[in-house]
Amino acid sequence: MKKPKNDRALRFYNEVLGLEHLHYGFWESEVDLTIDNLKRAQKRYEDLIAELIPAEVKTTLEVGCGTGAMWTRMLDMGLEAEALSPDVNQMEMLTKKIKAPFHYCRFEDFKPAKEYDLVLNSESSQYIPLDQLFENINRSLRSKGYWLLCDYFTLDNASGVMAKSGHNFNEFMRRVKENGFNVLHEQDITKETTYTLDLARDIVKKGKAGFDILTQKFRYDHPVVTKILARLFRKKLRKLDEGEELLDSKKFSENKKYVLLLLQKST
Ligand SMILES: C[S@@+](CC[C@H](N)C(=O)[O-])C[C@H]1O[C@@H](n2cnc3c(N)ncnc32)[C@H](O)[C@@H]1O
Repeated sequence: MKKPKNDRALRFYNEVLGLEHLHYGFWESEVDLTIDNLKRAQKRYEDLIAELIPAEVKTTLEVGCGTGAMWTRMLDMGLEAEALSPDVNQMEMLTKKIKAPFHYCRFEDFKPAKEYDLVLNSESSQYIPLDQLFENINRSLRSKGYWLLCDYFTLDNASGVMAKSGHNFNEFMRRVKENGFNVLHEQDITKETTYTLDLARDIVKKGKAGFDILTQKFRYDHPVVTKILARLFRKKLRKLDEGEELLDSKKFSENKKYVLLLLQKST
């Protein structure tokens, strides 16, 4: 049997930082980098998405619903909203809390039993290979149905660790055309999202400084053990460095673009 998906990073954001949403949010400029302001930015992002849902929409599917905040919002809006996630913790938490259809699977494996008016991917399209993403979106949407998605994409010049996550934007838009979607709304929100990276970088820096202070005496008293440990954990330390590079908002904007899109099937 396949091991269930259990995304620890997403659990950390939700259970430790107390975030209701698992996306970057939409920041106003010139505000302090605090968790409270991140929460406000995430609420603003949720509002942006909700405002883009066309009035005629009645049935929706949220692919990769995270903590279920947007799903709940859509139910509160009176929509027949369903959600999907392959994550075992999200499934356990959400099926207890929300009495509406939940699909516990990867979108690639989802066999839609109906055609929805709208499918939402909020920071989840990046996890799904492009061929399967378009194939299953086409299968899940009714004729003239809407696809609302918000995510980061890589630019053509993206390189190194920055090129590792997100679909290439030009390739994605080529497929949007090829699959007969019309673009009703396209908004580049890169600038408004990157403050989240600056905040995360701040938190990591403070954590590292604290760790340095706490371990200073040990490193001074046991230089040989310290060297051995550094050697043993060099791969993990390299990963940590890569992780920090991913939090560089300047590099993010040079290599990626965060876009909000509302698409409609032309037939
Ligand atoms: C960054 S979180 C975004 C959560 C939520 N949509 C939000 O905006 O807060 C990514 C979500 O995609 C889900 N996911 C990961 N791989 C997936 C896949 N192959 N198919 C569907 N969802 C997936 C994760 O479990 C998680 O719920």
